[in-house]
Amino acid sequence: MMTAHEIRAKFLDFFAAQGHQKVASSPLIPREDPSLLFTNAGMVQFKKVFLGQDKPGYKRATTSQKCLRVGGKHNDLENVGRTARHHTFFEMLGNFSFGDYFKEDAIRFAWTFLTEVIGLDKSRLYATVYQDDDEAFGLWQKVAGLSPDRIYRLGEKDNFWSMGDTGPCGPCSEIMYDRGEEVSCGPDCGIGTCDCDRYLEIWNLVFMQYDQLESGERVALPRPSIDTGMGLERIAAVVQGVHSNFDIDLFQTIIATAASIAGVTYGATDEQDTALRVIADHSRAVAFLVADGVMPSNEGRGYVLRRLIRRALRFGKLIGLSDPFLFKTAGTVVEVMGDAYPELVATRDFMERMVREEEERFGVTLDKGLAILAEELDRMEAAGEKTITGQFAFKLYDTYGFPLDIVNDVAGKRGITTDEDGYKACMAEQKARAKKAWKGSGETDPAVLFLELLESGMKSRFVGYETLTAQSRVNALISAEGQAVERLTAGETGYAVCAVTPFYGESGGQAGDVGAITTLTGNATVTGTIKAGPELTAHHITIAAGEILLDQEADLAVDTAVRAATARNHTCTHLLHKALKNVLGSHVNQAGSLVTPDRLRFDFTHIAAMTPDELSRVEDEVNAAILLDAPVTTEVLPLEAARAKGATALFGEKYGDTVRVVEVPGVSMEFCGGTHLSATGQAGSFLILAESGVAAGTRRIEAATGLNTIKHVREMRGELDESLHAAKAKAGELPGRIKKLQDDIRALTKEKEQLAAKLASGQGRDLLSGLEEIGGVKVLCAKVDAPNIKALREAMDDLRSKVPSGVVAIAAEQDGGKVSLIVAVSKDLHGRFTAPALIKEAAAAVGGSGGGRPDMAQAGGTNPAGIEEAFAKVRAVVAG
Ligand code: ALA
Repeated sequence: MMTAHEIRAKFLDFFAAQGHQKVASSPLIPREDPSLLFTNAGMVQFKKVFLGQDKPGYKRATTSQKCLRVGGKHNDLENVGRTARHHTFFEMLGNFSFGDYFKEDAIRFAWTFLTEVIGLDKSRLYATVYQDDDEAFGLWQKVAGLSPDRIYRLGEKDNFWSMGDTGPCGPCSEIMYDRGEEVSCGPDCGIGTCDCDRYLEIWNLVFMQYDQLESGERVALPRPSIDTGMGLERIAAVVQGVHSNFDIDLFQTIIATAASIAGVTYGATDEQDTALRVIADHSRAVAFLVADGVMPSNEGRGYVLRRLIRRALRFGKLIGLSDPFLFKTAGTVVEVMGDAYPELVATRDFMERMVREEEERFGVTLDKGLAILAEELDRMEAAGEKTITGQFAFKLYDTYGFPLDIVNDVAGKRGITTDEDGYKACMAEQKARAKKAWKGSGETDPAVLFLELLESGMKSRFVGYETLTAQSRVNALISAEGQAVERLTAGETGYAVCAVTPFYGESGGQAGDVGAITTLTGNATVTGTIKAGPELTAHHITIAAGEILLDQEADLAVDTAVRAATARNHTCTHLLHKALKNVLGSHVNQAGSLVTPDRLRFDFTHIAAMTPDELSRVEDEVNAAILLDAPVTTEVLPLEAARAKGATALFGEKYGDTVRVVEVPGVSMEFCGGTHLSATGQAGSFLILAESGVAAGTRRIEAATGLNTIKHVREMRGELDESLHAAKAKAGELPGRIKKLQDDIRALTKEKEQLAAKLASGQGRDLLSGLEEIGGVKVLCAKVDAPNIKALREAMDDLRSKVPSGVVAIAAEQDGGKVSLIVAVSKDLHGRFTAPALIKEAAAAVGGSGGGRPDMAQAGGTNPAGIEEAFAKVRAVVAG
């Protein structure tokens, strides 16, 4: 049998032999392409090449591309598991020509590969072409020798391919494989007339000719090009002679893992098989998404990942899986695919732990949500309702984290649909509410405040990389209320915008500069900055003296000490990022960063709390880089050149055509717009202050640099000195001393309890002198000293043994004006009265209540003054 790995290798080798450059798959997250959620075809990484905007240095390429079709134009999610050929994640084999060969060679290559390299039976192959593409129609006859009755002309829906709503597109030609009469869906079965599994589309050859613009217009590409795509899983199914893609070798190992955990057999029932296929499919998608840096969240790509995990869990439920299992099946994916995609191996440990955590978190609510959904569906069925309301579906999402897919899966089985528009409306409403709450919090959205300035085209040029002072004109003054004004006078606060500024505008997690603005008529303190737009910085000012007027010339000066303190923390953030990758692994990625003059805060992807040893190693690495006193250089480069150099970019961040790269040669290289030291030695020192968890799979480090580390060490020293003094210990003795103190406390507490018990029971002898006889019953009512109920019970045990027949009632007053009361009635008297009956009467007198068994009952109260009355009640009941 030819394995999928072999087919992939043969494909790439065949096209390499035809002059194609083998190019690695791009990540599932399209770089710099906001029009796409995920890479959904092989051509995505070449979009700019097709458009003529990039020239990669080769004209032919071949890839095996990781693709994900969930959401967007190409979405297969709901079909997964139900058909033999749909996946969320799959690999697309492709060959590409960028203005080089066109239709004829594309057809020849495809035909040769299929019939000669992997040896498919020619008599089973058919082709489709775009309706008026006579050229392709002719070429299939000429190049492949197909007779005209085996070539079908189809319309736009089948034979015109586009990447999304915009982007490269063109007519296409598909190669179909006939799986034989036996899988036919009936008399109407045929190419273009049905969608069953008999005629399987195995390869799509797109004749890329146009760019689809947002306006709806299609413009010609610089040169006609070729883009092809063949799903590896499908062609493997054909080559391996199995009916379903899920029966190929790549899937069987994953399915076997799931089946063995669940204790079921693949092939036993349709329902189980669907569940196993969904789990296998989603395991692959999950492993690959995490490897490409996606983390579960409630939005965007992260939400797709979360939905896939949750959907897999729900299908797991159907085959009896209630403990976390997906992390194991996703682990199997790494075993099966890791050779071809090393990123899986590098992130395996992290991925498994993260998936497991997600499983544990959702597992708790899954059952509850499913029960509530089932109840609603029962009710609807009884009432003859057919559509779940948007509110209900949204409530399941909001309270139980149920993605809509799960609701649809479960309801669909019972012929019930969901009002998806209503669901979306509820979601939008909630978002609007959240936004309003944020606005109401008193924070002003800077974008709103400066919208007019931005719209008027106002700009301020940032010169603060080179200099910390500048002279410039005051181009706008805005009052604290957000109104454009002509002057701000002493005591007032507001915003000033100047044509040129050395002040760094708060952005990228780095705090803005502070300093002063001075004019002929007054001066202002700059307490912060707002970067209202990419090229617009507003200074937040308080007028210290005089007044600042619109259109005045001003001197702007950044506080150099604060700038330097901020730079120490920013440069050390880069050193820290790198050290974390070195110590913890390449899965570590920046998830958030805050740089201020006082400290730095760095959030990063990592699943477990760092050990003391890891923290020390990271601290050591950063300090070693500081001691190197290596230069910190900056360079502005075209985006691709910066990537080619190996600079670290942030996930999900969009970059312009040129980027700034900050480098500590040999140590770190990152895309960054911030202000830095000129040599690492200026940081002085680096100290980690805290490490904690902030979200699923995200950790946070807070650290200090420069003199701030000394400040923190001094604070710690102060605390230590105080503790030594209090414990009367010398340096080095403190841990031992604390342990000894704790041991002493434990021993003393125990002793105290024993003494209290002894004391309470020791009262017995004296108390017996109060024994009375009422109506022939021995009765003992006594107030005892017992610090707690335990001691009181022990006293009772002692007294009962001394009064084998009779009634004993004892009460104790405890700290805080509380009363405990216990009444015992010997068995021979139960025919007349029982302990609960007596305690009921007595408890009322001490302002409490209680109960117990016939032989002993207990009560608590809050009125010590009522103890004698309680005893009187007991005597009265005994007297009858
Ligand atoms: N881009 C084409 C497809 O995805 C080949 O079908």
